Amino acid sequence: MLKKLALSALVLGSSLLASNEVNVYSHRHYDTDKKLFKMFEKNTGIKVNVVKAKASALIKRMSSEGKNSPADVLITVDAGRLFQAKQKDLLQPIESDYLNKNIPATLRDKDNKWFALTKRSRVAVYALDSDAGKKLSTYEDLADPKFKGQIVVRSSNNIYNQSLLAAMIAHHGEDKALEWAKGVVKNMARDPKGNDRAQVKAVANGLGSVAIANTYYIGKMVNNKDKSQREAVKKVKVFFPTFKNGGTHINVSGAGVAKYAPNKANAIKFIEFMASAEAQKLFAEGNYEYPVLANVPSSKLVGSWGTFKDDTISINTLGENNAKAVKIFDLAGWK
Ligand SMILES: [Fe+2]
Repeated sequence: MLKKLALSALVLGSSLLASNEVNVYSHRHYDTDKKLFKMFEKNTGIKVNVVKAKASALIKRMSSEGKNSPADVLITVDAGRLFQAKQKDLLQPIESDYLNKNIPATLRDKDNKWFALTKRSRVAVYALDSDAGKKLSTYEDLADPKFKGQIVVRSSNNIYNQSLLAAMIAHHGEDKALEWAKGVVKNMARDPKGNDRAQVKAVANGLGSVAIANTYYIGKMVNNKDKSQREAVKKVKVFFPTFKNGGTHINVSGAGVAKYAPNKANAIKFIEFMASAEAQKLFAEGNYEYPVLANVPSSKLVGSWGTFKDDTISINTLGENNAKAVKIFDLAGWK
């Protein structure tokens, strides 16, 4: 009898323990996030267990784990991947008055299966010692022959580029988007290689004059331990292109609650915390991202690059057009 009691106490104990944690599958790989997880633990007493991997690997893992998946929250760095997770039926609708009230409808899934936590804009970064600053205008214009041999950009298997092209498709249709991608390929200074920072470095070193990159990388390069990054970024400037009939391309980092989340209430609390003013401030200051809360300003450094108008298309569209974008990149010969 005693033995039985002890066992049930143990089971009870472990289930209590289990209810006081949240399992986060995250593609985000920033120090800011570690700080945020600690803050959440301190505020709530809920332990955050993190599995870090690429979104594609996390999505695969959640699929194969099925109903037994320990995942409570999925965080990705791009709307396209959140869309994929939703398509694979890995997420559930989130019922949260706080998120509904504070995250604009354009920055969340239409069925509330994920919410944006930060915004990032994909911009042109040009060499100060070139005339590119005078030539830059729209995204469409990057395909103009006046930029021949001037553009450096990462490969087309990168989701940031896929989302940019997805937005181009939304604005102009597939044929025009293909024409645009072909034009950009013709203007490339080299075959795509490296990440966004590598493109900025290339431009700083005189290879081409226009890099396509996400804004927060510039912030990270300005405040970097690595001198070569600090030096490179001194030689460039951010330009915010717009779509001819829209604004500057933005993408989001966001989170959803796993369909079989064992700690659903904690998962929602966790996402609400990440969207709190306190957390949003840290995303802005520590990782140079744009907050999704209207009343939280961007960091001083990010603000110094200027302001822009967000593109008008819904973030949902980026996921919906992803497969088309991948196909068009292939047709255009964008490696
Ligand atoms: Fe990134």
